[in-house]
Amino acid sequence: MSLETSISDKSFTNCLMNASGAKCMTLEELTNLKNAPCGTWITKSCTINPREGNPSPRYVDLALGSINSMGLPNLGFDFYLNYVLEEHLDGNDDLFFSVAGLTLEENVEMLHKIQNSDFSGCVELNLSCPNIPGKPQTGYDFERTHEVLTQVFSFYKKPLGVKLPPYFDMVHFEMMAEILNQFPIKFVTCINSIGNALFIDDEAVVIKPKGGFGGIGGAYVKPTALANVRMFYKLLRKDIAIIGCGGVENGRDVFEHILCGASMVQVGTQLMKDDISVFSRLLNELEEIMKLKNYHSINDFKGKLIEL
Ligand code: DHB
Repeated sequence: MSLETSISDKSFTNCLMNASGAKCMTLEELTNLKNAPCGTWITKSCTINPREGNPSPRYVDLALGSINSMGLPNLGFDFYLNYVLEEHLDGNDDLFFSVAGLTLEENVEMLHKIQNSDFSGCVELNLSCPNIPGKPQTGYDFERTHEVLTQVFSFYKKPLGVKLPPYFDMVHFEMMAEILNQFPIKFVTCINSIGNALFIDDEAVVIKPKGGFGGIGGAYVKPTALANVRMFYKLLRKDIAIIGCGGVENGRDVFEHILCGASMVQVGTQLMKDDISVFSRLLNELEEIMKLKNYHSINDFKGKLIEL
């Protein structure tokens, strides 16, 4: 049995990776991911300058998921560029580099530097961070998304995909897919957290930033995540891979993301709840399901959700 999968021209030994933001900010965390049995891994979304992020508490584990308003704490672009270049020297170019500039100019500046570097892995351009006060989520502004991609692809030639926010309206799926299909995008990652949700404990909010509003992940978001994976799998060009993200707690959830069309599946909230051992458990559980169903590879069931 093989869990091998591919994105762009890269193949990976299995379909699991972390979701950006989950245990991937520091060198120690990135080294743990590198040594874990996931197919690949991704760095914390970065900005040009290092950031402290929002005031704490800013991440809370909930019974059915998590809420976060981290505010893009990260060690700054140079740290992550140096990190991926070290990996390149080590013979590994198949990790993902997440970029989340606060402005279009900042994204362009970082992508120019990546373009001019030896890094040849995939960049996940984050168009969907919900946690920066005063900054809208680019992915909800269709015109702006078109403008960002036009500028980016005017010079960027390496494999690049976008991390999208969840959509909830059929017309929005179609509008976004129509935009993405115009560009040489290699993958889309859906979904980011369901932004600006509110969780209450007794009579109070549970996180400090933005009056308690934050991005929700985990089991709460799985049906929305699957719907986004499914719709983009159907609407995007066949050469654009889907990376599923949202609500993966067990092997069955990984299986469902792939059934909907995902080539790769990210783990966020559950990686925060468990530890790095989550990957071997998920792989074992996925293999058990595949064995029962007599599937030998991801391609045997990818996208093959039965519709009635
Ligand atoms: C953060 C949260 C996100 O959902 C994201 O995509 C990027 C950054 C954060 O708050 O740090």
